[in-house]
Amino acid sequence: MSDAWGFETRQIHVGGEPDPTTGARAVPIYQTTSYEFRDAAHAQNLFALAEVGNIYTRIMNPTQGALEARINSLEGGCTTAIGLPGALAVASGQSAETLAILTLAEAGDHLVASPSLYGGTYNLLHHTLPKMGIQVTFVDDPHDLQQWAAAVQPNTKAFFGEVLANPRNDVFDIEGVGGVAHQHGVPLIVDNTVATPYLVRPLEWGADIVVHSLTKFCGGHGTSIGGAIIDGGTFDFGASGRFANFTEPDPSYHGLAYWPALGHGSFILKARVQLLRDLGMAISPFNAFLILQGLETLSLRMERHFANASRVADYLANHPKVDSVAFAGLASSPWHDRLTRYGGGRGYGSIIAFDLKSADPESARTDGQRFVEALSLHSHVANIGDVRSLVIHPASTTHSQLTPEEQAASGVNPGLVRLSVGLETIDDILADLDTGFAAIGG
Ligand SMILES: Cc1ncc(COP(=O)(O)O)c(C=O)c1O
Repeated sequence: MSDAWGFETRQIHVGGEPDPTTGARAVPIYQTTSYEFRDAAHAQNLFALAEVGNIYTRIMNPTQGALEARINSLEGGCTTAIGLPGALAVASGQSAETLAILTLAEAGDHLVASPSLYGGTYNLLHHTLPKMGIQVTFVDDPHDLQQWAAAVQPNTKAFFGEVLANPRNDVFDIEGVGGVAHQHGVPLIVDNTVATPYLVRPLEWGADIVVHSLTKFCGGHGTSIGGAIIDGGTFDFGASGRFANFTEPDPSYHGLAYWPALGHGSFILKARVQLLRDLGMAISPFNAFLILQGLETLSLRMERHFANASRVADYLANHPKVDSVAFAGLASSPWHDRLTRYGGGRGYGSIIAFDLKSADPESARTDGQRFVEALSLHSHVANIGDVRSLVIHPASTTHSQLTPEEQAASGVNPGLVRLSVGLETIDDILADLDTGFAAIGG
């Protein structure tokens, strides 16, 4: 059985070269739960990490492995001491964030975060992590480095922010905040979902760990939920002095002290063998396969996303019914220069948030909802990063569970509309937006 499947002998086939056994160029879908061991010694070695190989799909699977190798290569992640790429694919973006944080922080620990976050991430940090004993301080202004430094406590285990925030579109100061984090022996985790590694490679600018919702641009097709964690492999968990959970033996894993035994890359290995093992948010091989199909065209899609988004931003910035447009591609944006530096001018993302001009918050809210309902080319969905253009009214949907104050901190006003600009012909996109503006009178 194992010979026929070739699991022991076959390298993880990442699709770049033909499969050595079959000649196939595409990545196969290994839709299997488990893998036959050659003998008792093989089984024992795999469990002891003395040999690397597949045990059970909750922890590792060749299709997931191909996805991990590619996203690791795109982000410039490390290669671990046991030869696995420094990335871990998981069931969703939310699980990538949760797993990354829980690999570092435990009950009694503390994080410092930017408030400029996707609503689901804000909920995780603001409500759910404290229930697990992990407190989070949100700085008021994520661009003020003093505030990050002042928020550090003896039990702080990570800083967290979004490279290109959804929906506020401010650009995280990776270098500055990373510098403050490292002065205090704390790793910086950034969410690179909206920028994608085609635009920004945060590990090169000072982040230690990158998380992704692969559900968005990396997949692009809107068929599959997935997430990933990428480890730059540069953070020194020993020198930091804050990480007994790395430097002390783990009784749940043969008394292994992840650092220094597994060296650089110990973060991502701990995430896999300890937390993914216990929490189980594995990505299905089929979803990993579908997201791999998306990654094949990431560069091409992003170029078109950027070109269309830039035209839509200009259109909105000049529209009489628009109060303000949040898009770092506009020269007037306070984040324009920073993203030009990080992204080399390749583009500025394709999420655009704009505020409608309205007399008061109640009419702003009604106008926002009416605008969204009037569009027909744009899909009205709670997603971003699809090939199709998408629209939503965040205050009544993605950010509706936040208080008005929390919404304001995330940049969500009652009349805010969020677009995820897709790949359609630009004239069709603009004509659809015209219909939306016609529906709100004014
Ligand atoms: C920036 C960002 N991070 C994380 C997530 C969560 O990802 P998922 O929906 O795959 O769990 C989202 C979802 O919209 C997001 O926009």
